[in-house]
Amino acid sequence: MKDNFIEIKGLSKHFGDEQILHNINLSIKNGEFITLLGPSGCGKTTLLKILSGFEEPNLGDVYLNGQTITNIPPEDRQVNMVFQNYALFPHMNVFENVAFGLRCQKISKSKIEDKVNRVLSIVKLDKLKWRKPNQLSGGQQQRVAIARAVVNEPLVLLLDEPLSALDYHLRKNMQMELKQLQRKLGITFVFVTHDQEEALSMSDRIAVMHEGCIEQLGTPREIYEEPCSLQVAQFIGQANIFDSKVLEDGERISFEIENKTFTVTNKKQLTAGQNIHIVVRPEDIAVWSLQEMQNTEKTEALPGVVEQVVYKGSTVDLVVRLASGKKIFATEFFNEDDAKLEYDINEKVWVNWIPDWEVILVQI
Ligand SMILES: Nc1ncnc2c1ncn2[C@@H]1O[C@H](COP(=O)(O)OP(=O)(O)OP(=O)(O)O)[C@@H](O)[C@H]1O
Ligand SMILES: [Mg+2]
Repeated sequence: MKDNFIEIKGLSKHFGDEQILHNINLSIKNGEFITLLGPSGCGKTTLLKILSGFEEPNLGDVYLNGQTITNIPPEDRQVNMVFQNYALFPHMNVFENVAFGLRCQKISKSKIEDKVNRVLSIVKLDKLKWRKPNQLSGGQQQRVAIARAVVNEPLVLLLDEPLSALDYHLRKNMQMELKQLQRKLGITFVFVTHDQEEALSMSDRIAVMHEGCIEQLGTPREIYEEPCSLQVAQFIGQANIFDSKVLEDGERISFEIENKTFTVTNKKQLTAGQNIHIVVRPEDIAVWSLQEMQNTEKTEALPGVVEQVVYKGSTVDLVVRLASGKKIFATEFFNEDDAKLEYDINEKVWVNWIPDWEVILVQI
């Protein structure tokens, strides 16, 4: 097996005058769980369709295990796709839905039965195999769609938002089941979602897409902690964003936020005069009461007023309005060190963070 099991090289796609994919380059390892993440319309389904052979690119090539498959029809690719809307055959029962692809391949009846039963037991549908799709819940139908795709033993499984129709709990369960299934089968998964939490929790690597381009490729941690652009920072998780300018450079840089000067380590070799975005995640914002501020020597803090308090069980989400009118989103966790977790609306507070640790700098 080639190390780069799937290679997408210089792929572009137009529909009419509109360019949908722009020079996509992506290498995927064998057995990897890779997620394409991006807003609606950014080209995720189109890219999956090109990988599966249901669409042709205008430019570029797709390689599977070192061989180009760009001109090979879908049924000969060893790549199977689970579609956004499952597309089950309504008149066939679960067993026949899963067996359909094998029946087209002239495989013996007993072998088909063995294969289908094995896959149905993996996705825990053995007891429901005589039911029709309309007698199943959304989650069960979704498992039929997955069983139908894996029964052919593909090398690659493409999953187009397979969990989007499920409720919160079923979705969480299916996320774990899918991950386990992938480990058990050892096949490469290319998964599509526009849910960033789902992408972060399931993937080995994430490709963040924006308007037909891959904006950033990296592990969930890299994408979350070191977003390469404002689009990625905003798309992955909530972000407080300040626009500023580098005042002094060197080992540390300084910049102003709300007329207060902050300094951080110059991790990105920025130079004086450069415009930057400073991104701080809500969980990295600390909120201090006036009393707490009096007892410390904190200088790098901004005054504000509590505007909204949302109790969430294990956290409290606050909206603090700064003097300039800018809203800051802060998530405070319940833990033993944190004495204060009761906030009043209109209470005067200070917000701060540990700049070196928790500030993400994005160049403009
Ligand atoms: N067959 C087609 N003909 C013309 N335009 C198309 C066709 N298929 C897709 N498009 C356009 O290409 C763009 C990308 O579509 P695509 O389905 O790949 O988006 P997506 O990222 O999967 O979005 P979603 O999250 O909503 O499923 C959209 O603007 C869509 O309207
Ligand atoms: Mg889509």
